[in-house]
Amino acid sequence: MDFDRYDRIRPIRWQGDRLSLLDQRKLPFVTEYVQCHDADAVAAAIHALVVRGAPAIGIAAAWGAVLAGQRVAAADGAQALAKLARDFEHLQAARPTAVNLMWALARVRRVLAAAGADWLAVLECEAAAIETEDLAANRYMGALGAALIAPGSGVLTHCNTGSLATAGFGTALGVIRAGVAEGRIERVYASETRPWLQGARLTVWELVQDGIAATLIADGAAAHLMKTGAVQWLVVGADRICANGDAANKIGTYSHAIAARHHGVKVMVVAPSSTVDMATAHGDDIEIEMRDPDELLAMGGVRTVADGVQAWNPVFDVTPAGLIDAIVTERGVVERPDTSRMAGVFGAG
Ligand code: MRU
Repeated sequence: MDFDRYDRIRPIRWQGDRLSLLDQRKLPFVTEYVQCHDADAVAAAIHALVVRGAPAIGIAAAWGAVLAGQRVAAADGAQALAKLARDFEHLQAARPTAVNLMWALARVRRVLAAAGADWLAVLECEAAAIETEDLAANRYMGALGAALIAPGSGVLTHCNTGSLATAGFGTALGVIRAGVAEGRIERVYASETRPWLQGARLTVWELVQDGIAATLIADGAAAHLMKTGAVQWLVVGADRICANGDAANKIGTYSHAIAARHHGVKVMVVAPSSTVDMATAHGDDIEIEMRDPDELLAMGGVRTVADGVQAWNPVFDVTPAGLIDAIVTERGVVERPDTSRMAGVFGAG
């Protein structure tokens, strides 16, 4: 397919001495880049959702490690690693659920530990490789996932899994881009994704750039939409996929998946292997990020809830493997995932 036609946005720009991050809190009406000059600024940007989406968080953290490396002198990688321990800790603590963050930091740590005097160049190469490989994985997953969708289908997606959430093209949104390009997908629906509105502010905006008509729905409209027969697949991303195929994703994915099963709509989870965590046996062991209740009490900075009201704000949930029809990764498709099928593709934990 013509990738350039379908994928123009880049949320992360490495500038050699700083990392420019497209401020996703301000989209779609303001396009502004936040300039990060050190690892702490990158960690703060990840925590504040300037940059978001599991793969993008991992990529940003890897560049954050490079920024940290630029500030220390060391004879070799092992020595640098010791000096960078605090920066790595800060980056890792920025958000807890997306395993891509831990994966990317473990990967740069590993190459650093083995690097000699040229450790900083090695570190920079590794961060660049993490980014390049993510884009390639997304393009490949797009083709694999689209092939599962029958021509003439409608799909529903949740949150934002597009170029904004990755090195480019997207995971679930990559499948949707490929599916539309191949004429398999005729209708695209996106749920708004309260409280940060990643669906409403980011996903439908991304699709508009590509000339793909998408219809926005309220999160609570998903089951009703499925009942009408307008969608055949729920296509979503993931922040962590466990050894048994349980998948953590944006809050609301689980209830969409339950509704999908009830209405005979299939569920596809699309994520690179960097999102697969074979060391976590099942979803109950995933730390679900809890964010400030204030995120629920206001919209766009305007308070919408009476004073004195409390709110509970978990921002991810876990869809059990039993509700998932296919997990699509760049290593292949796991249909009806369970522990043995996952191990068949990803090995033991
Ligand atoms: O809180 P966010 O916006 O970082 O949550 C993002 C999601 O839940 C995405 O669906 C997931 O990270 C996959 S992105 C390719």
